[in-house]
This record gives sequence, C-alpha cells and structure tokens, in this order.
Amino acid sequence: MRQKRGLILGVFSAKGGVGKTTTVANLGAALAQKLKNRVIIVETNMTASNLGLHLGILDPPVVIQDVVFGKLKISEATSVTDYGLHIIPGSVAFTDDLGSIDLRGILDELRKKYDIIILDSAPGFGLEVFDGMKACDELLICCQPRVPAIAGTLQTFRAADRLKIPVFGVGLTRVTGKRFEIPTSAIKRTLGWPTMAVIPEDDMVAESVTRGTPVVLHAPNSPAAVEYRKLAQAVITHVRARKRIAPRRKRKTIKRGRKVKR
Ligand SMILES: Nc1ncnc2c1ncn2[C@@H]1O[C@H](COP(=O)(O)OP(=O)(O)OP(=O)(O)O)[C@@H](O)[C@H]1O
Ligand SMILES: [Mg+2]
Repeated sequence: MRQKRGLILGVFSAKGGVGKTTTVANLGAALAQKLKNRVIIVETNMTASNLGLHLGILDPPVVIQDVVFGKLKISEATSVTDYGLHIIPGSVAFTDDLGSIDLRGILDELRKKYDIIILDSAPGFGLEVFDGMKACDELLICCQPRVPAIAGTLQTFRAADRLKIPVFGVGLTRVTGKRFEIPTSAIKRTLGWPTMAVIPEDDMVAESVTRGTPVVLHAPNSPAAVEYRKLAQAVITHVRARKRIAPRRKRKTIKRGRKVKR
C-alpha cells in the first residue's frame, strides 16, 4: 500500500497582526470537525509562539522547540483536543538563540499520520519565516485590506515565487467594509490569486481567543465562523482533488444474497 503523504499548508503574511494565528486555529478546528484526528496545526513562530493560547493551552507540557533542539521526537510533541484537532504548540517563554532549522525534514514524519498539516508562521522575513516557508507544499496568504498589509502580501508572494512554493490562495482577514479599507474587488484584481475566504472583523473572534476556544466552536453561527467553515471546505475540496485524502470507502453489506451499497 502507498504510504500517506499529507499536505503541508503554511499560513503566511509579512505583516503582523493580520489574523494568521486566528486563521490557523479556526481552519484547523473546522477541518477537524470533518476530518477528526487527521489534521494537525503546528507552531513555527518559534520566537513569539501563541498558537496554543488560541486553543486554551497556556502551559504546554511539550513544545515544538523541544523537537527543534532534539529533546523530543516530533511524534512525542503532539497534544490532542477533545474535538479531534491535533497541535504542536510552542513555548511562550522561549528566548534562546535559534539558527537555521531544517523544518521540512523535522515535519516530514507528520505526513504519514495526517492528511493536512497547517503551519502558523511568524510575521516579517526572518530566518524562521524562510525555514517555515521552505517546509510547505502550498501557502495560504493572509491579507488585511489595508495598504501596509497589501504591501506585506506582495512581499510574501515574491518570497513564495523565489522559493517556488505554490500559492493555494489568499484569505482576506479582519474585513470591516469601512471606507478606508481597500475594496475586496480591487484586492482580488491587484493580487491576481484566488481569494479563498473573506473573514469579517468579528467581536466573537476576540471573545473566543480570550476563552481559548476557536470561534468555529465558541460561536459557530458568527459571521467569522461561517467564513472559516467555508475556507475549510475549500481546503478539503482542494486536497481531495490532489488525491491526498482517499475518498471515504463505500461500505458494502450483503442483503438477500445481493451486494448493497450504502
Ligand atoms: N476576524 C477577526 N475579528 C476580530 N479580531 C480578530 C480577527 N482576526 C484576528 N483578530 C484579532 O487580531 C489580533 C491579531 O490576530 P492574530 O494573532 O491571529 O494575527 P497574526 O497575523 O497571527 O499576528 P502575528 O503576525 O503577530 O503573529 C488578535 O487579537 C485577534 O484576536
Ligand atoms: Mg501569529
């Protein structure tokens, strides 16, 4: 039997604070609702880790930095939520020096167990961002519809192009629709990449972060949660099209001597 090779999807944007970590937590939770125990989210923002906080994990017993420094195998650094989302969080107290890391090599083992591996990245373009980007099969680029964020997005596209990492699409984040925002239609035209989601600015997101529960679980009917579920469906469709998720096998039962599909 062919070994499973899960897809590594990185969530990136050079601009900070646009909603990358929120997107990773919610995309992961929404995917886990459909693909229980087959999705993992991984912290790659080594120097300012906060992905775990979005899931209410304040003081994780095992962290990605333990793996990077060779103290643990990657399979030993996983925590599991009760809704079937797996996570490798980072340490919020990490202050050590970090050189270049072979993240692609470190994460490879996860492909055998998970269908989708989502990486949360740091902002900017430091070494850890490049190491994270090199580990990805595809990128989801977050862009807030404001001038500095769009400049950062274009920078992220250039880096992806240079490293030859395909872009899955753009997620417009924290969209308010106020007059000082760049209209969604203009962004779609300018960036030229498919817009996979338009996530509104939503107070329920801020509330859900405080509660340590992704908004797709905390307030499933809130506007942001609805959009995150649509994004999850787009990712599933894309991954299935790449034949990385085997279609669910039709169960056959014998009834009155005939095979019946259910
Ligand atoms: N859709 C939203 N509605 C309201 N608040 C949001 C939304 N998305 C994110 N936020 C808030 O914006 C802040 C920044 O979000 P987040 O940490 O996800 O951004 P980031 O891009 O990961 O930042 P960094 O670059 O620093 O890692 C957080 O306080 C978060 O709660
Ligand atoms: Mg972040």
